[in-house]
Amino acid sequence: MPLATARVTTTRPSRYVKQLVSHMGHKVAATLAPDGRGTITLTSGTCTLSPMADRLELTATAVDAPSLARVQDVITRHLVRFATQEELAVEWTSAIDGGELEPTAPVVGEYLLAHHTPVDGVLGELAVATREAAADAAHMQVSSDEGALLTMLTRLTGARLAVEIGVFTGYSALCIARGLEEGGRLIACDISEEWAAIGRPYWERAGVADRIDLRVAPALDTLRALDAEPVIDIAFIDADKGNYPAYYEEIVRRLRPGGLVVLDNVFLGGRVLDPAYGEEHHVAVRRLNDMIAADERVDAVMLPVRDGVTIARRR
Ligand SMILES: C[S@@+](CC[C@H](N)C(=O)[O-])C[C@H]1O[C@@H](n2cnc3c(N)ncnc32)[C@H](O)[C@@H]1O
Repeated sequence: MPLATARVTTTRPSRYVKQLVSHMGHKVAATLAPDGRGTITLTSGTCTLSPMADRLELTATAVDAPSLARVQDVITRHLVRFATQEELAVEWTSAIDGGELEPTAPVVGEYLLAHHTPVDGVLGELAVATREAAADAAHMQVSSDEGALLTMLTRLTGARLAVEIGVFTGYSALCIARGLEEGGRLIACDISEEWAAIGRPYWERAGVADRIDLRVAPALDTLRALDAEPVIDIAFIDADKGNYPAYYEEIVRRLRPGGLVVLDNVFLGGRVLDPAYGEEHHVAVRRLNDMIAADERVDAVMLPVRDGVTIARRR
């Protein structure tokens, strides 16, 4: 629940951010990014402050509602105090549950699905077969736009060696395998042979079955047994979220310069933004997202594709 935002109309947004960061920095952690955004971390929670042309945008987060109220109160009081030449109206939204956030509105999502190169019969039929066989679990399959993105990224990197963690019924594996150079190989890791068996006939129909080397074992074991040389061109991580940090580390050290690691579900359905969600996998992905943004081994971008996709390119 504890997430709230405010839009404060003002002609001096950058000035307030600087003032607040400099003043509060004497007592608590307060940072000013090169682009002028501020972050203030209190004991009760965190507030980010983004200066826009005609306003200041605030986002407060905390582990529970009383803590959130304290963050809002501290930031509001300081802002109002600093605004000696105008009267600021700091009106917060009511507390939001991160799990209810949507990176893109459903109607936008539909439009995106309708505007990539259409899927062919093999992918379309694999999607249908997955829905029929897996029922509710079918939601684990990547969407067609994400699949198209994976094929495109694989082609753009001229990949000869790809790794996938989390195969399920093999939709994303098929998308990656299709993008490989002639003679290329996908090491596809999953603990379930049964789900992958659903995909195999479609891999065969698409003429890529011989490129897909399915390894049925915990993915960490498979990764750690791989050659330590940096030879991977592209990797896609889409499995158990608590292991994402370990998967990322094992992959990054084996990526060739210019190689990509692509991570799915980095928003965790919005829960990653809301510190009230504190289960092990929430904490793991939240920390990993922060770590990747600061990781000097890669250039990274997080995209609002479905449930959030990070692309990190090895320097
Ligand atoms: C979200 S699904 C993958 C979906 C797939 N990328 C697709 O587009 O169809 C996650 C998969 O991760 C697998 N998985 C879970 N824990 C794993 C582990 N420790 N090692 C390998 N695979 C694992 C599950 O069996 C499941 O098939």
